[in-house]
Amino acid sequence: MRENKKKVFITGALGFVGTHWCNFLLDKGYTVFAIDLKKQNIFHKNFIYYRRTVFDYKLIDRLIKKSNIVFHFAGIAEPLKYLTNTSQVINLTVKPSLHIVDQCCKYNKKLFFTSTSEIYGNLNKKKFKESDSRLLGPTTFSRWCYSTAKSLVEHYIIAKGNENKLDYIIFRLFNIYGPSLKGRVVDNFVNKALKNQNLKINGNGKQTRCFLYINDCMSAFFKVFNKKISKEIFNIGQDKEISIHNVAKKILKLTSSKSKIVLNSNNLKKYKGYQDIIKRVPDVTKLRKMTNWKPKIDLDKGLKLFIEDIKK
Ligand SMILES: NC(=O)c1ccc[n+]([C@@H]2O[C@H](COP(=O)([O-])OP(=O)(O)OC[C@H]3O[C@@H](n4cnc5c(N)ncnc54)[C@H](O)[C@@H]3O)[C@@H](O)[C@H]2O)c1
Repeated sequence: MRENKKKVFITGALGFVGTHWCNFLLDKGYTVFAIDLKKQNIFHKNFIYYRRTVFDYKLIDRLIKKSNIVFHFAGIAEPLKYLTNTSQVINLTVKPSLHIVDQCCKYNKKLFFTSTSEIYGNLNKKKFKESDSRLLGPTTFSRWCYSTAKSLVEHYIIAKGNENKLDYIIFRLFNIYGPSLKGRVVDNFVNKALKNQNLKINGNGKQTRCFLYINDCMSAFFKVFNKKISKEIFNIGQDKEISIHNVAKKILKLTSSKSKIVLNSNNLKKYKGYQDIIKRVPDVTKLRKMTNWKPKIDLDKGLKLFIEDIKK
């Protein structure tokens, strides 16, 4: 392994992505300082956990100073919350992130930040490239708060990078799924299917997404991390598109469920200006070219693994 800096600090460490990344790095011999609001559920001699908020700036500063590298994952990634808890989403996404950026500059620590495919908004393009423009609705429509907040943090990180004060990587994640995922479409469908409850789809189900299994996301993170790439943005996702209706059908088949699919349930429509994104495919050429990364787990295999895990 080329990377010899062994102490890392991870925020949102017990979330879906954080849990997998902590375990991945612990397996590789890293010491992990971690913050989250959740009850500790990773126990390892090199896992030093603080059940605290990322607004605890005193602790944040101390842990950044102590670590070699910072992974800032804490956030709210559930689409419903963009509509119901808008100011909270903005507050959490922006304020501690700007503080963490400043502290990484102060102590000269590299920052890895998880951004989102939502950045691109409703751009009408076959595949989204890191350098593409963005197309968002008006600020009176709350659903754009997450995209806007994450993009502000991206701007700040890039500005500090341009001023030569910060080394960073930004990962834009596209629908990552796998064990311990909560509050997103795949876990919602699998849980409902296993209970033989109806699978409700917003809209006509023709909207497409691309789903990447968490292990492939971890290998992408590690390839970028290990190659010591600097000041880049990477899309991380699968570039094979599938409609939400077909995902639901696949899950019903794989779980042998008696559930029915209900189209146009549109429980989000009651929120002003709610707009679903019709299509969201990452262009991962940059990641492939710079790191040789290739996903290994297709949707069928990933869903089978995920379903087995939920059944346990
Ligand atoms: N999973 C995806 O497909 C996806 C897609 C796009 C972007 N992302 C981004 O990746 C990151 C991780 O996403 P995830 O899927 O693991 O989400 P998650 O909700 O599972 O994890 C986020 C974690 O942050 C923690 N957190 C929230 N508020 C906190 C606070 N005030 N202090 C400390 N911890 C706090 C939560 O307890 C949770 O464990 C987020 O920044 C998210 O925006 C994820």
